[in-house]
Amino acid sequence: MSTASSGASESIWASEDEAKLLRRRAFHFWNPDYLERVALPILEPPEGAQVLDVGSGYGGLTLPLARARPDLRITGFDAEAKAVAEAAGLAQNLGATNVNFVEGDANALPFVDSSFDLVCCQTLLTHVPEPERVLAEMVRVLKPGGHLFVVEYHHLGAFSLFDDAVAEDLEGRLERFRFSQLYIEGKKHLGRGDDTFGVRVPFVVQDMGLEVLDVRKNDRAWHAFSPYHKENERIGLAVTRDFAEPTGETMRAWTGENLRAGGANGEDVRRYFELTDDPKLKAGTRDRIDAGTYRYLSSFTFYLTFARKPVSGS
Ligand SMILES: C[S@@+](CC[C@H](N)C(=O)[O-])C[C@H]1O[C@@H](n2cnc3c(N)ncnc32)[C@H](O)[C@@H]1O
Repeated sequence: MSTASSGASESIWASEDEAKLLRRRAFHFWNPDYLERVALPILEPPEGAQVLDVGSGYGGLTLPLARARPDLRITGFDAEAKAVAEAAGLAQNLGATNVNFVEGDANALPFVDSSFDLVCCQTLLTHVPEPERVLAEMVRVLKPGGHLFVVEYHHLGAFSLFDDAVAEDLEGRLERFRFSQLYIEGKKHLGRGDDTFGVRVPFVVQDMGLEVLDVRKNDRAWHAFSPYHKENERIGLAVTRDFAEPTGETMRAWTGENLRAGGANGEDVRRYFELTDDPKLKAGTRDRIDAGTYRYLSSFTFYLTFARKPVSGS
């Protein structure tokens, strides 16, 4: 298995599976070497450490971790059987023998106290109704002296800054910002998760008695500028092109429910979709991507919280 190294974004797609893996990493806004150069030196997992990745999904954090440190023994844990099966298949195709995937509920982790050297999650806590409860479970299964690594986002503003087509349009940006707030409030109200939770993590884990070692942001602004030298830029364009397709009915319904629960009225919801799902704007985006002239710079803030569980008496 190859190891991503400094600036190695150009030539490490050895296979379609590698591509899928890296597409996920890029989608989460990392530079390819962030684990090796930034996260792991802070976390310092000992040789052969037991690691738990909660809400592992398709392995967006588990698999890069397994690749960066083949000595670690990593358990990916997720509520979705389909995600568990797909992540396990991907691990097998990648030759990652140091991971296994387990299905279950993060509100009641099926592991004994103090069993892992490192417990992590990436974009899980914004999706659960009681993130503090899940965090408490993660801390319970962490060994004293072990490390917690939590990667969660803060969504506010992402909608307003998303598209370069509105970059010069302050009114449009403010309008989108207001919709972001309504969406976030409504989603929280419906028990669908708190999209701002990332910024609260260091406070919550310190209140739980952990030592906060460091708090960082994602190391990469999401961007693409022709001629799109970086693999990350090309991946980002592919993702943007997907988003530029008309929004599906299920997603429209989900978004509308969140907006309404946050206080939006019918006219607000209509206007929201007029802004975000405008067929002309989306077709224009697709055309520019296909023509190689599309460019963007947008913001989506992840907070990386690094913490340590104290050894009793220390
Ligand atoms: C946005 S995905 C993140 C996946 C992965 N960590 C990554 O960064 O690519 C969130 C994942 O959390 C899982 N999840 C949500 N609630 C959960 C729960 N209560 N217990 C375990 N997993 C859960 C979902 O099934 C989903 O796979």
